[in-house]
This record gives sequence, C-alpha cells and structure tokens, in this order.
Amino acid sequence: MDGNGRWAVERGLPRIAGHRQGAQAVHDIVAAAPGLGVTALTVFAFSTENWKRPPDEVSYILHLFVSMVTKWLPELVSQHVRVRIIGDRAALPADVSASVETIEKRTVSCDGLHLNVALNYGGRAEILHAARAFAAECAAGTAAPEDLTEDRFDSYLWLWGEAPPDIIVRTGAESRVSNFLLWEMAYAELFFLDLLWPDFTPATLDMIVQKFKSRNRRFGSS
Ligand code: IPE
Ligand code: MG
Repeated sequence: MDGNGRWAVERGLPRIAGHRQGAQAVHDIVAAAPGLGVTALTVFAFSTENWKRPPDEVSYILHLFVSMVTKWLPELVSQHVRVRIIGDRAALPADVSASVETIEKRTVSCDGLHLNVALNYGGRAEILHAARAFAAECAAGTAAPEDLTEDRFDSYLWLWGEAPPDIIVRTGAESRVSNFLLWEMAYAELFFLDLLWPDFTPATLDMIVQKFKSRNRRFGSS
C-alpha cells in the first residue's frame, strides 16, 4: 500500500493524513473483496524497514492500524472477517500487541474473508523465522533435515495455512516487491499501479481481478 505520503503532500496535508485515508481505503476494500471473489487479502501496513522513518510517523502508523481495526471490529465480525496479524510481534509497542491479540481473539472463529495485516513484517525475516523454528526442532532431535518439504516449511511461516497469493498489487508507481511475501509469491501475478494507495477503490480491485482472469498461468508447464 504505497503512496500515502505523496497523496497527502499533493493536497498540502501532513503525511499522517495520507495514512488515515489509506486505512479508509483498506476498510472499503475489505467490504468489497468477498463480492469480487477474493477469499484472502494480505495488506502490508508496516515493514521491518519502516522503523527508519521519524519516530512520530512510526508510532502513528503502528497505532493507526490496530485502532482502526479495533473500531471496525463489530462490522468485521458481522461480515465474518477473520483477522490475523503477521510479522515480528516482539518489537511492537505493548499497547499495539495487546490490541492485536484482542482483534485476533474476537475474529478467530469467523469463516469469511481472511484479512491478514502485515505489521513489522519482512519477507526475509519471515523466512528466517521459519528456518530457525525448523532448525530448533532438528537441534532438539524431533526433526531431521530431510523431513523438510515445501509444505512443512509453509507451516513455520507467519502466514501458515494460507493458500499462496494469486495476485500481488503494488501501488505508488514503484516496480519492486520491497520484501513482501517473498516465499509465498512464487507464482503470483504481479500488478504495479501508478495510482497512490488512498485512491485505490473497490473498482480498482475489480479491474485487477478481471485482468487476472485473462492472464495465462502455466506454473512452469508449457
Ligand atoms: C504508505 O505509503 C506505506 C507505509 C509504509 C505505511 P508511504 O508512506 O510510503 O507513502 P509515500 O511513498 O511517501 O508516498
Ligand atoms: Mg512509500
């Protein structure tokens, strides 16, 4: 979800106004996604690299997401949305991690859209976390290196149990993946959009889903 800052600056507003508008865009996409055939949605809210930003902006983004999702909880539950937060939780402020637990507990038995919020997430950090977890089992003698398959490796990821994404969208006119879902995106269809994240609407998602349907996916076959 890139381009919040530029969206605000273009309007003479502080960057945080762009983050707030970006969160509103997430709300609208979540409501529209199931109707467009989307069953799982993973949004990149804060990366392991975003700590390089000014402390005020870091704190604002981290609190914004959990406070917005907390505010939307009754609505999300009525839409059967199951929320999961993926990323390294150890470094999150205590009030943020407490809210994360509340959000997950409230929606754990929802059987509709899977909404995954990547918070203090990095694709490399996720792979490293999984590798360490498996290595620990080997060291404890409960697993051997040859037991590791792609499916088993999946089970150590923060996004365990989720089907690999069909579609990856990056907004903000940048053509890079910036450490998002590196393991999971092996066969995803990539979309790079010139528009800024706060301008992303359900109609944009609909357009992407339609384009996705016309892509020819071969998964390595001829
Ligand atoms: C949002 O967009 C992405 C987050 C890290 C929350 P940016 O804050 O990167 O916006 P730009 O790229 O400066 O426009
Ligand atoms: Mg950016």
